[in-house]
Amino acid sequence: MSSTQSTASQQTGIRRNRRVKIAIIGGGSAYCAGLMQAFMHNAEFFSGCHITLMDIDQDGLDLIYTLGSKFFHHAGVDLTLDRTTNRILALTDADFVITIFRVGGMQARRLDERIPLRHDLIGQETVGPGGFFYALRTVPVMAEIAAEMEQVAPRAFLLNYTNPINIITEAISHCSTIRIIGMCDGPVYEIPRYAKWAGLEPTPGKRLFQRTVGLNHGNWTTAVWRDGIDVLPEIVAWCKNYVDSNPEITFANYATVMLVTLAAQYEALPSDYMHYYYFPEAVVAFLQNKPTSRAEDIMSMLPGILAHYRAEAQKDMPQLTKIRGSGGFGDFALDILRCIINDTGEEWVLNVPNSGAINFLPVDRIVEVPCCVDARGATPFTQGMGGLQVDQRGLIYLLSEFEGATARAALYGTRRDAIKALAANPLVMSYSKAEAAYDDLVAAHAQYLPERLLS
Ligand code: G6P
Ligand code: MN
Repeated sequence: MSSTQSTASQQTGIRRNRRVKIAIIGGGSAYCAGLMQAFMHNAEFFSGCHITLMDIDQDGLDLIYTLGSKFFHHAGVDLTLDRTTNRILALTDADFVITIFRVGGMQARRLDERIPLRHDLIGQETVGPGGFFYALRTVPVMAEIAAEMEQVAPRAFLLNYTNPINIITEAISHCSTIRIIGMCDGPVYEIPRYAKWAGLEPTPGKRLFQRTVGLNHGNWTTAVWRDGIDVLPEIVAWCKNYVDSNPEITFANYATVMLVTLAAQYEALPSDYMHYYYFPEAVVAFLQNKPTSRAEDIMSMLPGILAHYRAEAQKDMPQLTKIRGSGGFGDFALDILRCIINDTGEEWVLNVPNSGAINFLPVDRIVEVPCCVDARGATPFTQGMGGLQVDQRGLIYLLSEFEGATARAALYGTRRDAIKALAANPLVMSYSKAEAAYDDLVAAHAQYLPERLLS
């Protein structure tokens, strides 16, 4: 064991008398291969940890387990791994529970993306009616997991990667005593990407720091510190130049052009999901004209990715040249885990109860803001208005109340409560449209929804 490894283990503040247990719910998903790789690459921080993969898909579970065990064995790292289809077994005595499952799989996502378009509404995984239904399917399952954790792992952190993380995290923070943190890798790749466009990549070995304020998939970044200097004005200047160059708009670049246009107009960097709210008619038209939805694109890519995983799993030392999800997906989760386990107090943008961090949102709403991450979890840094103008705050406020209403409807509501919540979504803003889209989507997803939401 290297000295770094022993230091990391000694610093582990959680149950020093045994291995730190990390349970991954959805551990058989294609995304999890990237997570296993990330554990191998960051093993010095996780030496002595035990990982339990849990999934209801036995084949996926076996595949990820084989890849992970081979990675860990050949890299010679002190990480142990097991797998189970029994959720209680996986959760029992866990110190961390990472959730990366998808209720209904890609087929359900496909319907979330397709059905709203019939009503001239945006069809998307996490926003509008699609994100709303994804939340209705997922909240009851996550609430069960949190209730089980209260019994068998009451001190564990629930690190939630399952979308829509804003609403799921909101619901659990209201119905459970379990400490939940919502994770999205968006802020950690979007801001360096904007900076790179402007020729302002971070200095090697250093990070950018950012003032990202608002909600998950509904925020603005109003400062970007590079070596201690706020380079947002330079990034905005680059965006203005880009817009002035009148780029030709195509299927491939329309979202980027819209986002850069917003950055130029608002002099702040929008989350990659903001164009849905600011250019809804144009986005609907693009999505209606696109022959395949994103879920369909993924479904045609997945067999190739899984075949590659399976072929590599046969080898002594698997080498994955393609993985599902961004390369940063696994690394981000492990950065958060590492900071809590090793009590580092680093700053990361996460989703936590507002607790006054943003002064124009309710204290118990889940917000996405820079947080101090240490053994206590993620504590938000005070933002005030976060550099946002009144019009920007208005949309975020509306979205936050939609999210609160949706979390409540998903936990306890009836069909009528759910329709009222959907009508409060800024992309819907119509009771009649909400009702029509609801009935269409509820029929498609009935098997995943509680009776109270059906009629
Ligand atoms: C980003 C978002 C995630 C989202 C994912 C979709 O990483 O932050 O919340 O789930 O993109 O990617 P996909 O490849 O599934 O369309
Ligand atoms: Mn996300």
